[in-house]
Amino acid sequence: MIQLLQNAVAKRARLLTPETNAVRLLDGGGDGLPGLILETYAGRWLVSTTGGQLAPQVREWLRDQGVSCYWKRLDQHQKESPSHLAGPEVSEPFLILENGVASEISFQSGYSQGIFLDQRDNRAEVRRLMAPGLRLLNTFAYTGAFSVAAASAGAETTTLDLSQPYLDWAKRNFTHNKLDPAAHHFCKGDTFHWLRRFAKQGRSFDGIVLDPPTFSRDEKGKVFRVEENFGELAALAADLLTPGGWLLCSTNCRNLGLNEFQKQLRGTTPRPMSARHSPMPEDFTDEPYLKSVWLKS
Ligand SMILES: C[S@@+](CC[C@H](N)C(=O)[O-])C[C@H]1O[C@@H](n2cnc3c(N)ncnc32)[C@H](O)[C@@H]1O
Repeated sequence: MIQLLQNAVAKRARLLTPETNAVRLLDGGGDGLPGLILETYAGRWLVSTTGGQLAPQVREWLRDQGVSCYWKRLDQHQKESPSHLAGPEVSEPFLILENGVASEISFQSGYSQGIFLDQRDNRAEVRRLMAPGLRLLNTFAYTGAFSVAAASAGAETTTLDLSQPYLDWAKRNFTHNKLDPAAHHFCKGDTFHWLRRFAKQGRSFDGIVLDPPTFSRDEKGKVFRVEENFGELAALAADLLTPGGWLLCSTNCRNLGLNEFQKQLRGTTPRPMSARHSPMPEDFTDEPYLKSVWLKS
């Protein structure tokens, strides 16, 4: 077991560079250890488990590494923050780097720590596609990591989320990268509502990121389910694209296969769009649960 852990960590060593210090070090079944995940965030470790248990040998090995380590139980209540397991406590937010872009991480902010590492390659692609004079709309934006990637390339960004605390976090992420949040737009509220509003206002975007939670409820209680409503979401967003613009449609819904997802998308966009699927980052070796489809008009 410990040999598998060590192999997994050693295999990822080359992904850790001066520009990127947050990666998945071990990915469950993909590394021969189902139910166990280990990630590093600028040298602070987060171990995640399903099944509520952490094997004593793993616990001991983690303690022996001398690094700060927190434990997240994936089947626990979604609001729980990870608990301290070993090494020095991390009681303040801190910064990680991904391809030279900083993000604020917190081990005290509940179930999610501020960035989803599985979107690293998609963020790099957004940054590559964006340029000064182009506009990005980032819906379901969470802490704005896609927005900061686009703004780092000089684009003007609009960051949209239901949660004001997450929008505030996104603004801090701009500031951490010496980008002025006042030069960008932040919208609080439901994505569907804003997409319709932007259409009425005649606003358009060169790129739109759609990466919703599997299930959500807007302020008025209306339910969104990826399996049923992603097509409608993509259709509304496609209407806001400039000619040659793109949509990133992404979902981590495990009940929705890639073929079904692509079929749902094909059926709904107002005009024909080319579709390209992008794989998960190479440190994610377990089930490829994240489906990312780039639609281009
Ligand atoms: C899984 S996170 C999205 C991750 C994000 N795309 C990223 O890559 O960092 C879900 C986010 O969607 C937001 N959200 C949920 N329902 C929403 C809705 N109807 N409209 C806008 N934002 C919503 C939540 O507040 C949360 O920040």
